[in-house]
Amino acid sequence: MKKFYIETFGCQMNAHDSEKVTGTLLARGYSQVEEPESADLVLYNTCSIRDKAEQKVFHRLQQFKRDAGKGKVFGVLGCVAQQEGERIFDRAPHVSLVAGSASYTRLPELLVQLESGARRVTGLSLDTEETFETPFARRDNPHRAYITIIEGCDKSCAYCVVPFTRGPERSRPAAGVLAEARALVRDGYTEIQLLGQNVNSYRDPSPSGWDFARLLRAVGEIDGLRRVRFTTSHPRDFVKDIVDAIEDNPILCNHVHLPVQSGSSAVLERMRRLYTRPDYLRRIEWMKSSRRPIAITTDIIVGFPGETEQEFDETLSLLNSVEYDSLFSFKYSPRPNTSAAALDNPLDETEKGRRLTVLQELQRAIQIRLNSRLVGSVEECLVEGYNQATGQWIGRTTQNRTLNFTHPALPAPSAGASLAGSYLPVRVTRSGPNSLAGEACVESTAA
Ligand code: SAH
Ligand code: SF4
Ligand code: F3S
Repeated sequence: MKKFYIETFGCQMNAHDSEKVTGTLLARGYSQVEEPESADLVLYNTCSIRDKAEQKVFHRLQQFKRDAGKGKVFGVLGCVAQQEGERIFDRAPHVSLVAGSASYTRLPELLVQLESGARRVTGLSLDTEETFETPFARRDNPHRAYITIIEGCDKSCAYCVVPFTRGPERSRPAAGVLAEARALVRDGYTEIQLLGQNVNSYRDPSPSGWDFARLLRAVGEIDGLRRVRFTTSHPRDFVKDIVDAIEDNPILCNHVHLPVQSGSSAVLERMRRLYTRPDYLRRIEWMKSSRRPIAITTDIIVGFPGETEQEFDETLSLLNSVEYDSLFSFKYSPRPNTSAAALDNPLDETEKGRRLTVLQELQRAIQIRLNSRLVGSVEECLVEGYNQATGQWIGRTTQNRTLNFTHPALPAPSAGASLAGSYLPVRVTRSGPNSLAGEACVESTAA
């Protein structure tokens, strides 16, 4: 039996694509191994959002250069594959397969070519009429499942490769989304995460023409589901109806990821983000004034070309006024095929690094403050597993916080007894910048 190894970089879209690829290979009789050394087929599902991410795959391939010609087949999938195309063969001649995400439905056919000894096989077309149906997806997590609702991106943010690597937007018919969600519930999944580069611009291609809020409401009504999340939202297309949908249904989690990128309207304009700081703050206000305690997270880029000290200060002041529950922050990285690559006034790496540190220190203080306010409260957790090293169960709250806890009746998993997958109330007793700790609330059974 042929053995394959797959390593995934990048976002949840890529993680889910790897689940589809894994399922397809398992269905063809391959078995999965945990080390590239013992595999016949080594796959890297790559990310090219920043230069550092892109370089990772070339480092990996370099490590195996000496294995070329020893029967091991190497494949590069995902966004670097789409971006670099056949140039990958020049940089890493031992690679045999290069395929972007829109070509995975053709994977069985590409595998046949590889299995019959083809030296170089590519799947790089972006206008594939792919179906979103994923009969083979082999999911990594037994409780939480990803569902793709929209592929690609029609925005043209000046710094971003995604429209180029994933192509134009294609929404999936709502009937397919709902059918997959119901099937997942029958298989025991209780949490669903709806995925897309910009879920807010979802539009059902079938005559009903549902928008994202309508789809979200419908998914939230599926019997047996406990949690629904979605990512990512573009602020321009984030409408109040999404907040109303969350208010109306507790199944929809108390969390919205709303990437802002910068707190300066001038920088946002240069980034071509299509909203200003006041537009963004209006959306924040919808959430802050909601009856539900909606956690808000974001992405920030520091050091975009020409970002002045004053413009950077506006990002810091935005952090202070929004008080994000957490955020991802990045140094701007110039990318091929993007309009920002041609902009003047690049910042040097040292200055970008300094701004990143200042921003992260401020955010750390905000998180310490916000998390400490939760001490004493009771949060419902989905139990994800057990940490042997700390002797704590690992839980996740509806706000997407990690809450590690002890359980008096079950201090550790034992033969046949585990809390993983259950939903439990946990009292928060301690807090840190990145997580909470607590004790499970166990009903007193004393007479
Ligand atoms: N579709 C999502 C973003 C996906 S990329 C959205 O629009 O929000 C994830 C994050 O990577 C972005 O939000 C941005 O903060 C960061 N990013 C994208 N391109 C980048 C670049 N060239 N340099 C640094 N960070 C970048
Ligand atoms: Fe990239 Fe902008 Fe599209 Fe997000 S919305 S994927 S940042 S182009
Ligand atoms: Fe990276 Fe592609 Fe996702 S560039 S962030 S893997 S869409």
